[in-house]
Amino acid sequence: MKKVFVQTFGCQMNVYDTGKIHALLGKDGFESTDSMNDADVIIVNTCSIREKPELKLHSFLGDALKIKRTEDRPVTVAVAGCVAQQEGQKLLNRYRELDLVFGPDAVPRVRELVDAARSDVPRATKQVLDTEFLDLETYAFASELDPGSTGQVGAFVTIQKGCDNKCTFCIVPTTRGPEVSRSSDQILEEVKGLADTGVREITLIGQNVNSYGLKVAGERTFAQLLYAVSDVPGVERIRYTTSHPRDMGPDVIQAYRDLPKLTSHLHLPVQSGSDRVLRRMKRFYNREHYLSLVDQLRDARPDMVLSTDFILGFPGETDEDFEQTMSLLDEVAFESSFSFKYSQRPGTSALRLLKDEVAPDVAQARLVRLQQRQREISIAAHESLSGQTMDVLVEGPSRYDEGVVCGRTSTFKMINFPGTLDLVGKTVPVSVIRGFTNSLRGEWVH
Ligand code: 5AD
Ligand code: SF4
Repeated sequence: MKKVFVQTFGCQMNVYDTGKIHALLGKDGFESTDSMNDADVIIVNTCSIREKPELKLHSFLGDALKIKRTEDRPVTVAVAGCVAQQEGQKLLNRYRELDLVFGPDAVPRVRELVDAARSDVPRATKQVLDTEFLDLETYAFASELDPGSTGQVGAFVTIQKGCDNKCTFCIVPTTRGPEVSRSSDQILEEVKGLADTGVREITLIGQNVNSYGLKVAGERTFAQLLYAVSDVPGVERIRYTTSHPRDMGPDVIQAYRDLPKLTSHLHLPVQSGSDRVLRRMKRFYNREHYLSLVDQLRDARPDMVLSTDFILGFPGETDEDFEQTMSLLDEVAFESSFSFKYSQRPGTSALRLLKDEVAPDVAQARLVRLQQRQREISIAAHESLSGQTMDVLVEGPSRYDEGVVCGRTSTFKMINFPGTLDLVGKTVPVSVIRGFTNSLRGEWVH
């Protein structure tokens, strides 16, 4: 049996695409392997959101191509994902032994592509490239293909691809193309299929989910989609990511009052607390608007937990701008956040602002200070949960301890507690004993 190894870097979109690659190649008789050394086909699914994840590709390719060069059997090496889309032919020129480069929109064609790139002769290379974007019609057809995540407790379902925004720091519109929404009927079919296989938690994914469906006449809006998913029998929890604060409308806020299955956690990337910086990022909202959204969400759902993304050291960010970000962190009291130093990305319009570049040591110091404060807020929030009992959807064994299982609360807290594997997929009450920075420890109440 032929074996395929896929290494995934990056966001939930890539995790989803990797699932699809496994499912599609499985139809051609490929078995998935965890060991790159045994693989006949090695695929690296890449991320280019910042420079650091992009660099990972190059060290990975060094290892993969070494296997191709030294083994006596034919090994096919492919680069997929955002760096593939962005660099295309340049990658094939730089790595002459590389067999295949294909972008995110070519994932549905992966079987033909691997077939075209494979050779019966060890070390031979043909070099195949596919970086075409899908349009609406072909996307609808392509997304009918089965997802790769049946039979688990939680599953991702893509509702949209690409992004029409032009946040000045962001490369996603270049690598993932314009926003295209998938048909809601098809999404609901997929959700039903997943629920039938035992999936209990659905996470709807897209780059900007709140603008879902708006470009298609007669399509459900994102809020309507939430109500429809909530009606699917078997679905117990609904999450979604990623939201843009500008597009978070009153109808979605209302859904938090109406839909108990919609979980009490929202990831709402703010990027900066300074209006001046938000303008330069072309985010099209200000601090006041963001804070008003937070109030409305907490009003609709009193136990709502918020997390966010921050970029530090965006070109032109002054000490005062940074203090605005620090004060926003305190004012909202985000329970967790991802924070990044600004990273220059090819072709993005923020490059024009680079005359105001923030010195790397200043950006680093701001990152450290923000992360330190975030840790304090997270620990305090988690410690204050001690003694509370929360419903936990059990996901599987704990990574560290035997006889311990882990799951998540509706507020997306990871909690570990002593329990057996027959609890997996069930929702059980767990009392919190201790809070840490990123997780909780608890005890099953029964
Ligand atoms: N530099 C730093 N962080 C970035 N992000 C996106 N582009 C960049 C960049 N050029 C961050 C944003 C986004 C998250 C997914 O990655 O905070 O919300
Ligand atoms: Fe990038 Fe902005 Fe689109 Fe998010 S909304 S993917 S940050 S351009």
